[in-house]
Amino acid sequence: MTDKTTDNKTTGAKDGEKSLTIAEIASFCKSTGMVFPNSEIYGGFAGFWDYGPRGVEIKNAIKREWWKTFVQERDDIVGIDGTTITHPKVWIASGHVESFSDPLLECEKCKQRTRADHLIEDTLKISTDGISLDEVNKLVRKHNMKCPSCGGALLDARKFNLMFKTHVGPVETDSSVAYLRPETAQVIFADFRQVADISRLKLPFGIAQIGRAYRNEISPRDFLFRSREFEQMEIEYFVHPDKTGECSYLTKDILMQKVRIYTEVAQQESTDDCVMTFKEAMDESIIKNPWLAYFLSQQYNWFVNLGIKEENLRLRQHREEELAHYAKGCFDIEYKFPFGWKEIHGMADRSAFDLTQHMAYSKKDLSIFDEETKKKVIPCVAAEPSQGVDRAFLAFIIDAYTKEEERTVLKLSSELAPLKVGVFPLMKKDGLKEKAEEVHNGLKKYMVSFFDVAGSIGKRYARMDEIGCPYCVTIDYDTLEKDDITLRDRDSTKQVRVPIADLKITLLKLLSKEITFGDAGKSI
Ligand code: ATP
Ligand code: GLY
Repeated sequence: MTDKTTDNKTTGAKDGEKSLTIAEIASFCKSTGMVFPNSEIYGGFAGFWDYGPRGVEIKNAIKREWWKTFVQERDDIVGIDGTTITHPKVWIASGHVESFSDPLLECEKCKQRTRADHLIEDTLKISTDGISLDEVNKLVRKHNMKCPSCGGALLDARKFNLMFKTHVGPVETDSSVAYLRPETAQVIFADFRQVADISRLKLPFGIAQIGRAYRNEISPRDFLFRSREFEQMEIEYFVHPDKTGECSYLTKDILMQKVRIYTEVAQQESTDDCVMTFKEAMDESIIKNPWLAYFLSQQYNWFVNLGIKEENLRLRQHREEELAHYAKGCFDIEYKFPFGWKEIHGMADRSAFDLTQHMAYSKKDLSIFDEETKKKVIPCVAAEPSQGVDRAFLAFIIDAYTKEEERTVLKLSSELAPLKVGVFPLMKKDGLKEKAEEVHNGLKKYMVSFFDVAGSIGKRYARMDEIGCPYCVTIDYDTLEKDDITLRDRDSTKQVRVPIADLKITLLKLLSKEITFGDAGKSI
């Protein structure tokens, strides 16, 4: 049976604890140089963020870990890297020109434009997923809602297409219009023929891509959560149309895994999410397709294995009325952000919608020959894992951000830590600096090592804690005599002595979690 859980709307602060705000996280990212507003010298540019030296390392590590798990370690998924501007017909065929929009409200007086569902959510504190223009207009009238900027009257809601337009070529006419991709997925469909033929994969198989996507969000907000340029990591997983109900990867272990699910019924009845196994979710027809269950488990576990606390994760079933134009079914993986439970990952059953559309518009054959039945079939995308890199970055940072009495520490997993080790001489003099440089140079080839001589040892440790560096090495006068160093653990702040000869291997074992800090060196 399923267990009820609570706190659908809360943001995680316990009694007496000051809750974390997204503003605090944005300011922390800025002060550590991880992420800051784009073009800040010109006052910034709403919805655009740049990653600094530490931030880019964490972001690259997120992409690297995802690619490793879902492409390199699998035999059934291959990768591509397509362009961000593609033939405009791609977006007509996909339905994005017609349907990729959000509801917009415009003020009659000051002309300010506001995203309608967000204004309603903020004002009435109700969920607006999948709300229609009619419903928006009714609520605006019923609650006499006004322009949030000047208090003026609001015109009737209308749809606002989120795709950025550009012109390709030296002459700007209607026929030179092209779009910046709002999802990486369509490039996979447009390249399907080449990739399927060249990789000689048999159904079921997936095509993955990591790359930039652009959405002209009406009101970008919540720091990296809703920006206008971001990155996605997506897989289109193609299955024989008669076999969408069979998934051989769905093992007993996966079926018995418990997760928190916020079902469509719970949302309609305004009750709580509940903990259930994937098997229960499938038996109760909450998850209708085994591929969705399988990929939801894999993407969920990817977050957990990289350090996200399970209490901050849940799956949310999409309600019928909020399904995207291409989706037969959809789940989000949600994270408990300081501003509430929100999507960090979308998982849709896209059926054969996209390939069928592209076949119709391009007049090209995008079917696969089925050896068993000797017939051509149009594969179904039984699962489309769609992951935002920047939302993942934000969730990993928030989850790792820890305020202790005397320090701020980012308890990132070793895979995501931007630096793996900091190497410090206790003093600059008496040959300590040279010895520390020697140690640092010896480690550099094997892990990201950072050398620092500036400030007191305490200050140097604090700087490393703040950006999530898991280990620090200090070279002191004993090092010169005994050829060993002090190794410090970020999370516990414990220290042990390790011979320089063992340092590289000890660090590599710690970073790969082969040993724990308790097994490293000799306690001091
Ligand atoms: P939301 O409901 O929050 O607007 P969405 O349903 O539009 O999100 P999807 O279209 O499912 O999001 O996009 C897939 C993934 O791409 C999301 O789970 C998210 O991680 C990422 N993503 C989408 N839009 C943005 C954005 N504006 N900024 C950052 N990441 C985004
Ligand atoms: N490809 C799914 C999405 O971006 O929503």
